[in-house]
Order: sequence, then structure tokens, then C-alpha cells
Amino acid sequence: MSLSTLAQEILAEVASAADEPQLEAVRVSALGKKGSISERMKSLGAMSPEERKEAGAALNVLKDKVAEAISVRKTYLQEQALEQRLASEKIDVTLPVRPQQQGTVHPVSQVWEEVVQIFGDLGFSVAEGPHIEDDFHNFDALNIPPEHPARQEHDTFFFNEKPDGSRMVLRTHTSPVQIRTMLSEKPPIRIIAPGRTFRSDSDMTHTPMFNQIEGLVIDETTTLGNLKWVLAEFCKAFFEVDDVKMRFRASHFPFTEPSMEVDINYAREGGKLIIGHGDKWLEILGSGMVHPAVLQSGGIDPGKYQGFAFGMGLDRIAMLKYGIPDLRAFFEADLRWLRHYGFRALQVPTLVGGLS
Ligand code: PHE
Repeated sequence: MSLSTLAQEILAEVASAADEPQLEAVRVSALGKKGSISERMKSLGAMSPEERKEAGAALNVLKDKVAEAISVRKTYLQEQALEQRLASEKIDVTLPVRPQQQGTVHPVSQVWEEVVQIFGDLGFSVAEGPHIEDDFHNFDALNIPPEHPARQEHDTFFFNEKPDGSRMVLRTHTSPVQIRTMLSEKPPIRIIAPGRTFRSDSDMTHTPMFNQIEGLVIDETTTLGNLKWVLAEFCKAFFEVDDVKMRFRASHFPFTEPSMEVDINYAREGGKLIIGHGDKWLEILGSGMVHPAVLQSGGIDPGKYQGFAFGMGLDRIAMLKYGIPDLRAFFEADLRWLRHYGFRALQVPTLVGGLS
């Protein structure tokens, strides 16, 4: 076969190779050890020097030509493969979400997010603390010394005693985050601390694990009036009503002075609770002015600063807002309950878009 026929044949095979493996086979059959061009190279040895010079040069030209053609074809095939992949793997991100959703957002998560939105808008940031607390943060620093009767009310879960006799606890409220924040930040302080809390208690409205949300504001001129305004704004936004009546009842917490429990008005219409209507009262939170001893434990000068704090049951306000009767069901992971009371996953609560 003449060299030019061979060249034509090989180049035709290169051009028709449909994918990379085929192209590789063509390369081996031409340029491989036993390939057609390589075989011809071997025959050069039997030629006279003149013949060899001419034939060798021609073979080298052909070899380069074939190698070049293979490399061009290879690039082309790779691009083709990529384009096909892109075409077959493309997704249309403008497609609407499929309506048959699988899971739902738990009412606690929903309400947590709502509360963060509302207080975020009021200039509060979110603070955190550990679930496993020491005695100092959960009690002592909050003006609850060991012999204080308030300790009994907390139904505390204790860990085993350490060699030094101290015992860690599962935090019984979110108030230890007040202390942690005071010790790590300088006033002005404006935080909320939503999170899990634990008490050994269980009935329709109590579970051993529940959620609270703490609020703390400390500045030079913080007053009870500020507390009242913040709580009123919160209640209106959270319950999505224009107005809500509030009743401050004198109470006692060791860490606030004065201390108040706050009730809001409601009416019962057709088995439903309507917040902000009617003349019945519902307790929703505990609050007060931060006790000077607590400021001191937090390293803040009570002669210069004062503040207010409040604590609310997050699960409780979820029950009130969404008409959920039994707290225990919150934590039973019953899918029927979750489907009934859960929220759509992509409806993130915002103040502009609507909370619920
Ligand atoms: N920590 C209190 C409780 O769990 C609530 C509270 C917080 C009261 C802050 C006053 C101020 O009952």
C-alpha cells in the first residue's frame, strides 16, 4: 500500500472515531509498537542510505500529521462529551417547588424563628449558653444561694458529684445566659437567649425538656418603662394583633427586683383563644429589673448600670398562638401530629413577608 493511501486510511479512521476509546484504538493501530506506521519504520533498516533518508522523512511527516490529527480529534470529542453532559444534567432552577412536601417545620422551630425575627428588628442579638451548667451560672450568680428556697422550685436534674463535691446541672432556665453575657460583653447589652431547659416535671403543660427564651437589656438608663414597651411590641408582633392589654403582677424571682409576671388579655370564642380580645388573663412570662447582686456577679457596676430581664416559655407561646392543647405531644415525634401542626419548610417567617 502506498504511503499516501495509508495516510488517507488512518486519517479517515481518526475522523470517524466516535469516542475516546475508539480514537485510542486508532492511535494504537497506527502509532503503537505494532502499529502500521511503526511497522514501516522498522522496514527502513533494510533500505539503502538514500532510500532510507527519503522514506524516513516521509514517514516522520506522516507520523506527525497523524499525531496532530488525533490530538485535534481528542479535544473535539472531549468538548462534545462535556456539552452532552451539561445538556443532560441541567436543572431548571426556575421550576416551582413540588407541592408534595415531605417534612414540616416543628412549631418550636417556627416560633423560635419568629421570636428571633421580632427581637432582631428591635435591635437584640441572639446569645447562647450550654445545656449542662455549673451551679454558679444556674443559681449562685443569679442570687440563688444554696439555702435559698427557690432551688427547690426548680426540680433540678443533677449530674453525679465531682471529687470536689460540686455537681453540674441541666440548666433549669435560660437565665444563666444572662450571667455568661454580662461576663463576656460590656454594656450596653441587648440580647435574647432562646434554648432548651430542663426540669424534672411532666404533665399536660410540663415536660422534662422544654424551651425558654430569655431577654436581657442593660444600659445606664434602662427602666421598667422600657421593659413594658419592649414586651408590648413583642406581644403585638408575635400574636399578630393591633393591640394587646398587659397586666403586670408583682411576683418574686431572686434575680430581679422588682419582679413581675406578665399576663395578656384573651377571649375564648368557639373553642379558640383570641389574644388581644376579651377580659380573661393569661400568664405568659416572668420579668423584672435585674437585681444589683446579679449585675455584680456579672462584673457590672450596679451604681452605674441597670437593666431588665424576662423569661418566657417558648413552647407555651407556641401552644397559645397555634392552639396546640398538649405540650407533651411536642416531643413525641408523632408524624401525624407534625403534619398537622408543622409549617411549610420554605415559608421562613419574616416581619415583611409575614410571621406565620
Ligand atoms: N428564669 C425565670 C424562670 O425560669 C424566668 C425569668 C427570667 C424571670 C428573667 C425574670 C427574669 O421562671
